[in-house]
Amino acid sequence: MTTVRTFACLTVFLLAGCSADAAPGPVEQIIVREPGAAPVATAATAVAADGGSASALLAEGKAAFANCAACHTIEKGATNGAGPNLFGIVGKAAGAVTGFAYSDALKASGIIWTATNLDSYLADPAAKIPGTTMVAGAIAEPAKREAVITYLESATAN
Ligand code: HEC
Repeated sequence: MTTVRTFACLTVFLLAGCSADAAPGPVEQIIVREPGAAPVATAATAVAADGGSASALLAEGKAAFANCAACHTIEKGATNGAGPNLFGIVGKAAGAVTGFAYSDALKASGIIWTATNLDSYLADPAAKIPGTTMVAGAIAEPAKREAVITYLESATAN
């Protein structure tokens, strides 16, 4: 009888001891890993979200500029095509690119190419400046115009 009781007590002690030993292990591991992982993931996500949306808009605008590139160059100092070179166009007076034969209508428009004026011109060039010789390249979608204007702005800054 004594042997059985001792064995039972020993078993209970060992089980209790075992579970008491095992419990802190995993808890401690979780606590150690979480603080290390959480801030890194948050910072990386924030950077990706900020940089991602701005560069996505720029990339979209660059792709949409394919509609303009048949007539316009955008690189600094590049030659005029069927339309004038558009480097630095944002903030510039209409009809100011040297060596380009503008329509009288555009030259007389008195427009400064703010983002707002670019937006309405690109939506419908002939409505904005009746008599303009820009007869193609209108962009119906507002979001696509915004992307193209963002791209034009980037070519102003560089
Ligand atoms: C079919 C050729 C053609 C296409 C395509 C075209 N343009 Fe033009 N663009 C012109 C011409 C020609 C003019 C000059 C208009 C005038 O003198 O009335 C012009 C003028 C402009 C001007 C005014 C420039 C200044 O110096 O005042 C801007 C801004 C402009 N285009 C932007 C764009 C953008 C952005 C696109 C593409 C979304 C585009 N154009 C597509 C031919 C084109």
